[in-house]
Amino acid sequence: MYFSRLRIQNLRNVVDLELELVRGFNAFTGANGAGKTSLLEAAYLLSHGSSFRTRQGEHLTRRGAADLALFGEIATAGSSHRLGLQRTAGRWIARIDGETPPNLAALFSACAVVGFDPGSHALISGSAELRRSFLDWGVFHVEHDFASWSRRFRRALQQRNALLKQDADDATISAWDEEFVQAAERLTAQRERYAAALASELTALLQIYLPELGAAAVEFRAGWDRSSPLGAVLAAKRQRDRLLGHTTRGPHRADWVLSFAQAPSHEHLSRGQEKLCAIACMLAQARLYQAQRGEWPVIVLDDFCSELDAAHQELALASLVRDGAQVLLSGTELPPRLVEFSSPQRWFHVEQGQARVLL
Ligand SMILES: Nc1ncnc2c1ncn2[C@@H]1O[C@H](COP(=O)(O)OP(=O)(O)OP(=O)(O)O)[C@@H](O)[C@H]1O
Ligand SMILES: [Mg+2]
Repeated sequence: MYFSRLRIQNLRNVVDLELELVRGFNAFTGANGAGKTSLLEAAYLLSHGSSFRTRQGEHLTRRGAADLALFGEIATAGSSHRLGLQRTAGRWIARIDGETPPNLAALFSACAVVGFDPGSHALISGSAELRRSFLDWGVFHVEHDFASWSRRFRRALQQRNALLKQDADDATISAWDEEFVQAAERLTAQRERYAAALASELTALLQIYLPELGAAAVEFRAGWDRSSPLGAVLAAKRQRDRLLGHTTRGPHRADWVLSFAQAPSHEHLSRGQEKLCAIACMLAQARLYQAQRGEWPVIVLDDFCSELDAAHQELALASLVRDGAQVLLSGTELPPRLVEFSSPQRWFHVEQGQARVLL
């Protein structure tokens, strides 16, 4: 899939900007603070409803403006759609082909964007929450009922935590355990399936990106010790959970970890190696999406050339461009060597929130 057009209103320093994009390699260059990352952020927001650089939506709207609005025309294998996402009074509102869908998930399922940016190494060394959202983004795009099971699970977790805080009796708490366990088992089975498929793409890519570290392995952790049924684990931990005021075991604690024969923990990796792992994760996710859905997601690469060495830039970009993915890449400049082996099909110069076509 690819964006043929993006319109951005009141995102960071962008007042109103329209971009005509091509399928293939689109480059954005310009000085620091020009607005390059903001343009990539717009594409990512349409697919995730949150930015890759901040969780706080209020920083996205241009200071002094009331509403932020994004529009994208996305072409997929069999159709094209007009997507809209507006932020008004702290709330997101989606539009698809002029209609308001029942929820934001409908917009996100119509639009797949994966990204790599200077903070992506946190996927390897940062909190489990980042790895869970990465995994869940992929599961969401292949399992049609994942979003509804996730909602049911979150509701059961909130209820259970509220009861634990109120020091409710065992019978009242265990009444919620059944729903908790049912939703937990369903979404964990979906996550596990996806993690296994991702692991096979990822370990193969890591042999290419980081061969010096030896064989790679991905371990999925469900969030509780699965040698016992979750219901029994909840019952065994109930007293402790009551003291802490929250549920300590379950899919909300899930994680996955990457290890290598020569680097068993992420502590053994250099910052650059963490970045290479992160780009491999993003590419594995994109390849898996392609394998499962028959088309590539849009690929956003922010400050790509200052993050990776030349050999790895070429490796990643060449395969994406060859395979026909739409790539949106930003940087203060493009290294001449990169332009030589993979020339942008469209190149914008970005300045003060405006973009001028160079190529
Ligand atoms: N909410 C906001 N309102 C107005 N301006 C903002 C807001 N948030 C950020 N900015 C400004 O928007 C501009 C564009 O930021 P952006 O991160 O897109 O730049 P960039 O071209 O990627 O720069 P760099 O090369 O440094 O990464 C910056 O000048 C920044 O100060
Ligand atoms: Mg930037």
